[in-house]
Amino acid sequence: MKELNEAIAKGGGEHVELPKLEEDKIYEKFVKTAIILTLTVGVTFGAIILSYIAIRLNFNSIYYALIQAHGHAQLYGWVGLCIMGFSLYIIPRVKNTELRSRNLTSICYVLIVASLVLRTTIQPLSFPGTRFLLPISSICETVSICLFVLIILRTILASKEKKGIFDKFFKAGVIWFLISTGLNFAMVMYIYKHALLEIPRAVFSPYVHLYLFGFVCMFIFAINIRTVYAFLDIKPVREKPVNLTFWILNLSIPVYFVTQMLADKSNVALRFSQFIVFPMAFAILAFIYGLRVFERSTRELHDVVMDRSYTKTIRTAYIWLIISTMILLVIPFLGHGSEMQKRFHGSLNHALTVGFITMMIIGYASKMIPTFKGINMHSQKMSDLTFILINVGCFLRVFSQILVGVSGKKLFYATMGTSGWFELAALGLFGYNLWKTMNTTQVVKPAEAKKLLEVTKDTKVFDIVDAYPETLQVFIDFGFSQMANPVMRNTMGRVASIEMATRMHNVDMDKFIKALNDKIAVKS
Ligand code: HEM
Repeated sequence: MKELNEAIAKGGGEHVELPKLEEDKIYEKFVKTAIILTLTVGVTFGAIILSYIAIRLNFNSIYYALIQAHGHAQLYGWVGLCIMGFSLYIIPRVKNTELRSRNLTSICYVLIVASLVLRTTIQPLSFPGTRFLLPISSICETVSICLFVLIILRTILASKEKKGIFDKFFKAGVIWFLISTGLNFAMVMYIYKHALLEIPRAVFSPYVHLYLFGFVCMFIFAINIRTVYAFLDIKPVREKPVNLTFWILNLSIPVYFVTQMLADKSNVALRFSQFIVFPMAFAILAFIYGLRVFERSTRELHDVVMDRSYTKTIRTAYIWLIISTMILLVIPFLGHGSEMQKRFHGSLNHALTVGFITMMIIGYASKMIPTFKGINMHSQKMSDLTFILINVGCFLRVFSQILVGVSGKKLFYATMGTSGWFELAALGLFGYNLWKTMNTTQVVKPAEAKKLLEVTKDTKVFDIVDAYPETLQVFIDFGFSQMANPVMRNTMGRVASIEMATRMHNVDMDKFIKALNDKIAVKS
């Protein structure tokens, strides 16, 4: 601050050409492809499979290779691509450095998309003539993820920023991404070599959890540690419990994976796989406590006018993480390999993949992409409808599938069978809303636009003060003290309408609009 004030005191000497800020769209093709994949081979496929199971009243009525194709499309195509896209944008910014090897990101993108299309189409098909494409898909995927890891690690290591507690979560996430990709390569080579359509369930199911708790949760936890306190206006994380989570979870995951895989063959492994879920559950709950996600706001940012609808999505995602952790704790008490245990396992997967992970993607994308671009989400109504539909769908799926496991009743098959369509509608709306937002550029109003003649509830705060600077005093008189801050006016002011501002501050909107229009009328 001393240097800045000295520069101001010195007065503007030589003319400095400020660089034109190019919008960084590195995340866009990853996120758009993730939306296309989840709305085709992901959720749509899943919803059809689920309805078929519900009509046949039998989970084993559909061959597992189709479920694995859906699962892979969702793990790498929806979640994987979203995390890759956002990380390439966020990590350089939280590490205050440039993205390294940016030229490799397009190769990384093309290879991962090619591998996904090949894998999800070829694996369930039994045409011998096309099976050679399976190892090719796996080689493309492995090269792509190695490139991604190289870019991320080079960027993190190039940063001179002081290390934060989130750093090691990113690094652990990168290592688990590499390990799960290596496992995926081995599984594909195994089914190719033995001319099988499906990966043995005893290997595939624990591998899914290694990918979700290892790679996905570590990345989400890293980004949450770094940003949730600002997004939710709460105190920064409690480092002790968060550190505990890091060590317990990363030490438990390999034990969980190996013992789950051997559980059918060895009683010792079975006992270990039943025991290890307790420290894992403790670690997850300790993280939620450390993150303070359900704590009261510090109100430090309470007078900052901005859209906060994403906060309920982030908090609800953590409610679903607690629900999936509770199911994880029940599973060891259900007969190993029983139909009931399989149903609970499927519910755990869904509470984790849709309730927590997909909800977190929706919450963060709805917050970050508009902020990256300095605009609003295309439609707030669509965001609210997405939130309702995805929660209804997830609730119906998770609890109906548990009740199917407990009672086998037709009613619960029916409610479960409808759940996928609610989730498809939710992700369809979200995909359209985010796509429109990504295609919108910040509107730089031409000079003549200044002819703002009347303030309405939809008028942007920035446009009023920009056209009539004398209205600033009216804002301050009505309690919008942050409007005195030009940075706030130029960022939040551009996205906040009068309706949003007055609702945020419990200000009588009509009275405020009248006061502003009276002020403008004096001038014109
Ligand atoms: C949103 C709508 C979704 C629907 C309707 C859906 C539907 C299904 C169905 C019917 C199954 C087979 C039954 C079972 O194992 O419970 C399944 C399994 C699976 N799903 Fe989904 N799913 C959805 C979302 C997701 C997401 C977001 C992911 C991952 C990020 C995912 C990953 C998987 C995986 C990996 C399996 C196989 C699990 C195993 O066998 O261990 N699904 N899904």
